[in-house]
Amino acid sequence: MGQHLYILTGASKGMGRAMAVQLLQQPGNTVIAIARSPLALDTAPVPGAQLLEWSHDLAHAQPLAQRLQQWLLAQAVNAVEGDDMAASFASVSLINNAATIPPVAPLSATDPHALVQALRIGLEAPMLLTSAFLQGVAAWRCPKKVLNISSGLGRRPMASQATYCAVKAGLDNFSQSLALEEALKPHGAKVCSLAPGVIDTAMQLQLRSTAPENFPDVGRFVGLHSQGLLTSAEDAAAQVLAWLGRENFGRPVLADVRSAIG
Ligand SMILES: NC(=O)c1ccc[n+]([C@@H]2O[C@H](COP(=O)([O-])OP(=O)(O)OC[C@H]3O[C@@H](n4cnc5c(N)ncnc54)[C@H](OP(=O)(O)O)[C@@H]3O)[C@@H](O)[C@H]2O)c1
Repeated sequence: MGQHLYILTGASKGMGRAMAVQLLQQPGNTVIAIARSPLALDTAPVPGAQLLEWSHDLAHAQPLAQRLQQWLLAQAVNAVEGDDMAASFASVSLINNAATIPPVAPLSATDPHALVQALRIGLEAPMLLTSAFLQGVAAWRCPKKVLNISSGLGRRPMASQATYCAVKAGLDNFSQSLALEEALKPHGAKVCSLAPGVIDTAMQLQLRSTAPENFPDVGRFVGLHSQGLLTSAEDAAAQVLAWLGRENFGRPVLADVRSAIG
């Protein structure tokens, strides 16, 4: 049986780092970890697990998408030539996890550069990477999955979060459209846009640290934290990876870890 391949963005911090750590504790997993900073592991990958770190700024994802496509095509050549599934990957998953929130403020007061960066990292990069991924694995016959990390804010509006809400709503609808396309293929990818809950990471710290005059809902985030209602990065990662491993992954396309049925 070949390795399970995971391509994971935002792997250096927060929930992405926790996912990478957990994947690398399972023999049989190969992880391509993408972020700007390195994944500082406390524990080495277990024997039989492999880490490949690709340092890249997702605000400029086109060269990365090309690199990914070329890398995947090179793997597929081996598999096709050998005609031996044991030599290729047993499954392949792209996890578009990286995202940023621009300094929290009404759109009318948002820094244009921060707005553009957030759209590029959170929406443009996942679309470019997904397109390259699907082209790279087109000849592969193993299970293929695209997991986009969404948010409850992709599904309901919030003042001072227009950019982030647009990114996540975009991910949701892009995922639904993509799922329709892939369903037409004999060996298409399964697609899911998953809200991971409220997680104790730097992103939450940013939200609850915003001045109330810039963020009418700041009290909600302060309250979630003070009441101990945040999920740890480790628990959130475990929930997301369990979702990825579900038999019926991709049904429904829009899902939330807090819901039993998605
Ligand atoms: N935290 C929550 O409560 C919450 C709730 C709902 C949804 N989510 C979603 O869950 C996902 C993970 O969130 P998180 O809270 O774990 O985030 P986080 O702790 O802020 O980590 C973000 C990750 O994205 C990477 N990243 C940021 N900018 C990048 C860039 N320009 N190029 C490459 N990588 C970049 C960071 O790595 P480098 O800085 O090393 O590049 C880091 O690894 C996100 O999609 C987020 O929207 C989070």
